[in-house]
Amino acid sequence: MEQLTKLSTFAQDTMKGLTANPKYLLPKYFYDDNGSRIFQDIMQMPEYYLTDCEFEIFTQYKSEMKDLFVNGNAPFELVELGSGDGLKTKILLDHFVEHQVDFQYVAVDISRQANENLDKKLQVELPELKTKFKTGDYFKMMNELNHDSDHNKVFLFLGSNIGNFREHECHQFLRQLSGLIQPNDKLLIGFDLKKPKDIILQAYDDPHGHTRAFNMNHLVRINKELDANFDIESFRHVAHYNEDSGETKSFLISTKVQSVYIGALEKNIHFQKDEAIYMELSQKFDLETIHQLAQKYGFKVEKNFTDGRNYFVDSLWSKR
Ligand code: AVJ
Repeated sequence: MEQLTKLSTFAQDTMKGLTANPKYLLPKYFYDDNGSRIFQDIMQMPEYYLTDCEFEIFTQYKSEMKDLFVNGNAPFELVELGSGDGLKTKILLDHFVEHQVDFQYVAVDISRQANENLDKKLQVELPELKTKFKTGDYFKMMNELNHDSDHNKVFLFLGSNIGNFREHECHQFLRQLSGLIQPNDKLLIGFDLKKPKDIILQAYDDPHGHTRAFNMNHLVRINKELDANFDIESFRHVAHYNEDSGETKSFLISTKVQSVYIGALEKNIHFQKDEAIYMELSQKFDLETIHQLAQKYGFKVEKNFTDGRNYFVDSLWSKR
């Protein structure tokens, strides 16, 4: 333990996950610069329907969203948790700027590179937009936002990012937001909905290999940052979907008996043949569960925006 406290959180979390039974890693560590880039490849492929759905929703409802976000013309902050490349949000930003809405865009992301790229892009494409960028874990950033300004806020948590949370994290996140949000604030959360298995598996085990590369990059990151020797060729990527629970899980599976040495942890990690590392949960929801979640944390659902195929919902919540 003495030793553990001197390690970075990435090292500590990696230690915890790889010495647990079953083994797991945390999805927030996917997004180093390389991982953020691979995730853009995922979002651009046709099989990853989530991005198209949210594009469609924003394109269709941007004007209605503007009216709902603008509360009696008071200036507000549009705070995006996990802004990434900001491509979907750009539809709203363009529309709001065009209609001279009085707002500032606050982008929060765990990747500094993603923030820098978005900052540059917006300076060129939307020079009149007021922006602020914050780099960090959104659990930590949310506390800072609290003391930042007394403007009305509209929080965006898009892309079904919420699906990545295990139950206790989802609870902590919504409870924290619930404590942060004021009567005039709003929250737009994206939820991917339950749907037939083949559609989901195409998105999470794609024929181009982007999702595989995304998962493997986590091991590459451990190799680079924690001085480890994962041989990524001896792991295969698998996705599972449970149609009843809506759980979509991603695993990396060791194709042989092997040990991996992690220098920064001074530790050997042993793998059995076919032993899995649980990499990611991408929970799928239904409208009933979304309502219950809102209720449970003191919100009311003002409106559900869905795409034409009913694959995805952007749910607008406010304080009850
Ligand atoms: C960014 C968490 C919404 O779960 O769909 C995409 C990440 N992982 N393909 C998702 C992801 C594999 C994505 N989220």
